[in-house]
Amino acid sequence: QAIYLKDYQVPAYLIDTTELRFELADDQTLVHSRLKVRRNPEATSAQAPLELHGHESLELCRLAIDGRELDAADYHREGELLTLARVPERFELSCTTRIHPQTNTALEGLYLSGGMYCTQCEAEGFRRITFYMDRPDVMSVFTTTVEADQARFPVLLSNGNPVASGEKEGRHWVTWEDPFPKPAYLFALVAGDLQHIERPYKTMSGRDVSLRIFAEPKDLDKLDHAMDSLINAMRWDEEVYGREYDLDIYMIVAVDFFNMGAMENKGLNIFNTSCVLASPQTTTDAAYLRVEGVVAHEYFHNWSGNRVTCRDWFQLSLKEGFTVFRDAEFSADINSRTVKRIEDVTLLRTAQFAEDSGPMAHPVRPASYIEISNFYTLTVYEKGAEVVRMLHTLLGAELFRRGSDLYFERHDGQAVTTDDFVCAMEAASGRDLTQFRRWYSQAGTPTLRMADDYDAATQQYRLHVEQQLPQTPDQVEKLPLHIPLALGLLDASGADLALAEGATTQVLELTEQRQTFVFEQIPVHPVPSLLRGFSAPVRLQYPYSRDALVFLMSHDSDGFNRWDAGQRLAVEVIQGLMAQYRQGEALQLDGALVDAYAAVLDDESLDPAMVAKVLSLPSEAYLSELADCIDVEAIHLARQFARTELARLLEAPLQRRYEALAPTGVYAPDADQVARRSLRNLCLSYLVALEAPAHLARARAQYDSCDNMTERQAALSLIAHSGFETDAAAVLEDFYQRYQSETLVVNQWLAVQACDPKPGALTRIKALMQHAAFDLRNPNKVRSLISTFCGINAVNFHDGSGAGYAFLADRIIEMNRLNPQVASRLLTPLTRWRKYDAARQALMQAQLRRILDSGELSRDVYEVVSKSLG
Ligand code: ARG
Ligand code: ZN
Repeated sequence: QAIYLKDYQVPAYLIDTTELRFELADDQTLVHSRLKVRRNPEATSAQAPLELHGHESLELCRLAIDGRELDAADYHREGELLTLARVPERFELSCTTRIHPQTNTALEGLYLSGGMYCTQCEAEGFRRITFYMDRPDVMSVFTTTVEADQARFPVLLSNGNPVASGEKEGRHWVTWEDPFPKPAYLFALVAGDLQHIERPYKTMSGRDVSLRIFAEPKDLDKLDHAMDSLINAMRWDEEVYGREYDLDIYMIVAVDFFNMGAMENKGLNIFNTSCVLASPQTTTDAAYLRVEGVVAHEYFHNWSGNRVTCRDWFQLSLKEGFTVFRDAEFSADINSRTVKRIEDVTLLRTAQFAEDSGPMAHPVRPASYIEISNFYTLTVYEKGAEVVRMLHTLLGAELFRRGSDLYFERHDGQAVTTDDFVCAMEAASGRDLTQFRRWYSQAGTPTLRMADDYDAATQQYRLHVEQQLPQTPDQVEKLPLHIPLALGLLDASGADLALAEGATTQVLELTEQRQTFVFEQIPVHPVPSLLRGFSAPVRLQYPYSRDALVFLMSHDSDGFNRWDAGQRLAVEVIQGLMAQYRQGEALQLDGALVDAYAAVLDDESLDPAMVAKVLSLPSEAYLSELADCIDVEAIHLARQFARTELARLLEAPLQRRYEALAPTGVYAPDADQVARRSLRNLCLSYLVALEAPAHLARARAQYDSCDNMTERQAALSLIAHSGFETDAAAVLEDFYQRYQSETLVVNQWLAVQACDPKPGALTRIKALMQHAAFDLRNPNKVRSLISTFCGINAVNFHDGSGAGYAFLADRIIEMNRLNPQVASRLLTPLTRWRKYDAARQALMQAQLRRILDSGELSRDVYEVVSKSLG
């Protein structure tokens, strides 16, 4: 039941206008639609039937063409399709469906989130509302009337501008008009008892826009940060891309029950509360940054996604890859560029690389899918953004901007492909991007194997590069990619040597499988700084000595590579410890790592945020990704040993910096304070690892005296994960008592317990599932408790008994019925079974088979399970 890109055909009909009327009531919702339909002049067949999508759950109450009522003999309904064999060239189709938002636990289409109505239509949720051509290349002008009980649903919203309203007998209605043609996936509706904040905005051409953010009344005080972020994003898009907003109102609504982060519906974004609410007392610095990034991301979609949309869902990265690139650059411009890059690359190398080497591997532009919801992936989003970033690197900022201008100008109001995007870049820059396009169609992470040599007599430095492309389940044959490789060469003092045109960083372009680059007039044997800024999403292999890594850590002018050298060194050291552990030797930490960390810790001239990044050991997840066969215990023990040894040997300087970084004024999530807190909390985490009462007391003092969630949460998780069981229990209890009315904070509380590596985690998780704070129907809670346990708490989840796997399979079978999208995402840890030892492989496969045999599977779960079993 797979769908293939190669089978794409233009729609047989077009829908010029869409008029909707929703009658919301407690037991049911009636949806009346009136569509002006006409045959698509570009369609091949003049006799094509009209095919409408409609989910099985839709009850069809009425269907009429030009006022003539149809009955069952006039159409054919099968699966998700309703087919009308013969229709006029131009006609009006009227339809009424009955739906049940109150029992919609899938959270697709129209559903209730904590008593308010809201929608999620991307990718194919609209077909759960009414029969429609639910495909992104059918764009229509929508007029929507929402009618509901006035007292309980005082706020009625949809896309565009409100144009009429009225009331009668306790019910009221509002009509909204969106003048911009859009596909159904951008439709939105909200009805509830909401309050909002509002701010005026003047666009660069002088248009006045009213910005409004809606939430439940209790959260009204947590919306200012999102508003500031929105205004910053709007200004940035005007300045950097020349794009301005196009409607009179821009609305954001916060909802508690949401499958993903947020949704860019035209003029009416709907957000997971976790991506919009922020206050110092309830939100960590990291979450503040996430809110800023997601608000910007959804705003940027107004151009990269809405004004120019996707032809079909294979093109998803057209809008997502580009928009992630845009939001990353925005965040880099207004915060620390290097820190943002480190965080994005960490996610890519840890999770996207793992996806790319697993059974669900797919190109940035997939060639087929069973369920499109499964393709909202790190590959489409994050690798897709890297592909756009490489275009930016190859073309340079100026030509890239010309390309994006041309893209928006050519395709405004159209539904297009990733190839149209590349064509615009090509046309604007005059560059041939034929080979570059392979990044869109080839899955798998390339490896660059590099070696070099230096000839003092000729002053030539030669760099040999070989690109290797792994096979993936979907493709065996791979062709060489066009890869931008940014690099610099350092002399013995650590200074950059002058390269072509005097630059210190040069971008080499790899196009062959093997290539040698020659650098002339290089006076000394240099240390290469390769792949600066992570200029391409590849694995880099170069035989760096530990001395060279220490040297780069302190000298590289590229901040990203300074950090990366530290990571490489730490990875090697931890891998060494793992080998010692497996051979039954006493563990011995390489002094080079200690010295390097000591130097960075002592250097007060460095940005504390960077120091915190450099001194953070690679995660267990990253170490696992790097392993051929994941040894869960060895990774955990080796990493813990390194952490404790570093703490023991650097206790005095860690304590000194911890104290010196104590907060000064009142909390603000500004760059300076965020940086200080990140390093201070990192110092505390090393100190607490020593399991000494004095350091535990230090953490508890921070917990008690701080005025913000960043410091409190950090202290909480350190105490909760420590071996001091009584203190752990006490702090967790205190935290819950303080915050039990703050849903998002309670979710943090669940997550902290879910990733506690101490033995017995599964028992604790099962107990928490019975806690009043847990709700299987709320995706945020499932993620906080279950995904955190299975995705992060490796030593417990991968317990040799297989109990963790059985637990997860039970949850997936349960969630498959309630919410297929969430169920499918829960599968991720099990899809990695090939990376474990034979015993664990067998246990994980057995659970996958049990899921497969458990009965009616959603397409979402079926696709991932069947592809995982191969
Ligand atoms: N377009 C949204 C975003 O990235 C993601 C929504 C996808 N939702 C889904 N259920 N597949 O901003
Ligand atoms: Zn997006």
